[in-house]
Amino acid sequence: MTAARYLVLHGAAGRMGQSILRLLPESSLKLGAALVRPGSAWVGEPIADHVSGAKVDQEFLDALDPDAECSVLMDFSHGESFSAALELARYRGAAFVSGTTGLNPLQQSELAHAAQHIPVIWSANFSVGVALLTRLVREASRALGSSADVEIVETHHRHKQDAPSGTAWHLGQAVAEGREIVLDTVAVTDRAALQSARQPGEIGFASLRAGDVVGEHTVLFALEGERLTLSHSAGHRDLFARGALRAAEWIIGRPAGLYRMEDVLG
Ligand SMILES: NC(=O)c1ccc[n+]([C@@H]2O[C@H](COP(=O)([O-])OP(=O)(O)OC[C@H]3O[C@@H](n4cnc5c(N)ncnc54)[C@H](OP(=O)(O)O)[C@@H]3O)[C@@H](O)[C@H]2O)c1
Repeated sequence: MTAARYLVLHGAAGRMGQSILRLLPESSLKLGAALVRPGSAWVGEPIADHVSGAKVDQEFLDALDPDAECSVLMDFSHGESFSAALELARYRGAAFVSGTTGLNPLQQSELAHAAQHIPVIWSANFSVGVALLTRLVREASRALGSSADVEIVETHHRHKQDAPSGTAWHLGQAVAEGREIVLDTVAVTDRAALQSARQPGEIGFASLRAGDVVGEHTVLFALEGERLTLSHSAGHRDLFARGALRAAEWIIGRPAGLYRMEDVLG
């Protein structure tokens, strides 16, 4: 019989946290603990009272019991609380999966440092489709080189504040990797400010903000007389939770290291 594997969720009261709690039964993982912000009104409350569809009889907690099982710690919280979650995973020797965005350079290096001791996946987008798109974009870029003009177009809901999206930038990095160049040196995020013709090798970004769009990304490769477009549309936030759960199942028991969502695809 296979030993049970336990997920400890940090940021459990958030939108992603609640999706993960609801979708957990679709995975092979059991809930070790659901952690919320210290002082949250949900501390000590039954999870099932707040998350419809959650099939667990535990309560929300604000700290991890030293005796609680933790095979993987998953964090979908906030930049302010990310480092504490990472430290907890290191302390427990658990795998770490995080989708928290807005990390500063120090937190990025904390992540790399922790990966010397535990297996880690951080991704700005846990969609399985985007992971595959990234791979296809890198491959197309490698084949076409700088002979293709590349423009990356992303659309998100009207509330999104940053642009271009982290995923658009991630796709730009895949284009740059395919060409073996550094994205920063060729990225154009504000063409209106340039007031000049397109320069060879540029990788352009355009951002649309409208309605309730969850997330759409298109990478256009334009050659003389032909165009190739690779696109992904996200229909529901649950897809990120499903992808994160798949990553959590995959990473448990791996050697220490910094893995990518693409690695999870195999
Ligand atoms: N990688 C992906 O695929 C993906 C997909 C969606 C979202 N995200 C990212 O995941 C994160 C969470 O997204 P969300 O939509 O679930 O946001 P959310 O609904 O705002 O939830 C964030 C949760 O973090 C908790 N939190 C905030 N500060 C905290 C602190 N100092 N200590 C402990 N807990 C704290 C909040 O607690 P309270 O409820 O008490 O405020 C809340 O429950 C964001 O960074 C978002 O950009 C990533």
